[in-house]
Amino acid sequence: MKTSRRTVLAAGAAGLAATTALDAATAQAAPRRHPTRKHFGTLADGTAVDLWTVSNGGTRLQVLSWGGVIHSLEVPDRDGHLANIALGFDNLAEYVAKSPYFGGLIGRFGNRIAAGRFTLAGHTYQLPLNDGANSLHGGTQGFDKRMWQVEPFTRGPETGLILSRVSPDGEMGYPGTLKVRVTYTLTARGDWRIDYEATTDRPTVVNLTSHTYFNLAGEGSGSIYDHTLELAAARYTPVDAGLIPTGELARVAGTPFDFRRPKPIGRDIREGGAQLVRAKGFDHNWVLDKGISTSPAYILTLTDPSSGRVMRMYTTEPGLQFYTGNFLDGTLEGTSGRTYRQGDALCLEAQHFPDSPNHPSFPSTVLRPGTTYRTSTVHSFSTR
Ligand code: BGC
Repeated sequence: MKTSRRTVLAAGAAGLAATTALDAATAQAAPRRHPTRKHFGTLADGTAVDLWTVSNGGTRLQVLSWGGVIHSLEVPDRDGHLANIALGFDNLAEYVAKSPYFGGLIGRFGNRIAAGRFTLAGHTYQLPLNDGANSLHGGTQGFDKRMWQVEPFTRGPETGLILSRVSPDGEMGYPGTLKVRVTYTLTARGDWRIDYEATTDRPTVVNLTSHTYFNLAGEGSGSIYDHTLELAAARYTPVDAGLIPTGELARVAGTPFDFRRPKPIGRDIREGGAQLVRAKGFDHNWVLDKGISTSPAYILTLTDPSSGRVMRMYTTEPGLQFYTGNFLDGTLEGTSGRTYRQGDALCLEAQHFPDSPNHPSFPSTVLRPGTTYRTSTVHSFSTR
């Protein structure tokens, strides 16, 4: 097994913050550049959409000003060859017309809210229902379908984009004017960090996340069932027929949901049982052992044995929605012209638990005036 210096650096959370001689060497090998912008397409109302490119430490990230979408994410394999490991389209029209949230910046609320309804400070709010009887990913026009103001930055060894927008009071049924700022950073060693910030002028609920579909062998290269996943979570939240958490925190021990030791994603996916049948595979929230943390803490390692690409994730969040692309059905043609079929990618959405506003026992997603919502997630790339 080859262990690159990236692997060594990513070995512990401490390696994330430290700037070492090796970081500097990595940065030198693949120099940092100020982000660049080009035209990507035009919306029906005439709005121009930009494609931003950010490069650092061997990683290249492309982001749309529409939806804050991660259009592509290129990282090297064990031989140094780059591949785009994020699913997407090669044109704006398809993102707008049929994207299943490819790379989307999800808000105001990641995953489902039962019946699109919740009660806060004595008021009941009704959200648009866009997933059967429930509201999914912030409603029909969530943050993944909105224009964002994008500001590039280069600060010391880091470079990236600051995305901001003001979501007006009542947008998609949610209370409060929500001022949102999301920073995508590439570090000197090519890690991708997301920092989310939001403030409100009325009590509201917020649960922001990124809906990138990963395939570490490259988008359009086939199934991710051979990728191995190690996930530090002893419990998950089972769902009802509408994929709403029942409220139970079930133990993963002895079930297909146990990824506490590295396991190929496809190994138990056909085991049956109500949970896997309902969701057509994995599409559940895991209760991260580390709980809420003030700085990003280790939660998982995803490995593609064929390319040797490894992605570790660190987050401040208490939950992870792990979704195995169950609804990809071969009808979408991706960025490089290949069709995406069931299991051709997976999403790892660090966030609070689905339907939290209706489960007082779940960690709270309430944001009040005078406080700032702050969460961060790091994707750290290496090879083996
Ligand atoms: C959800 C899936 C949903 C998908 C949409 C995931 O976050 O958990 O149920 O189908 O997003 O692409």
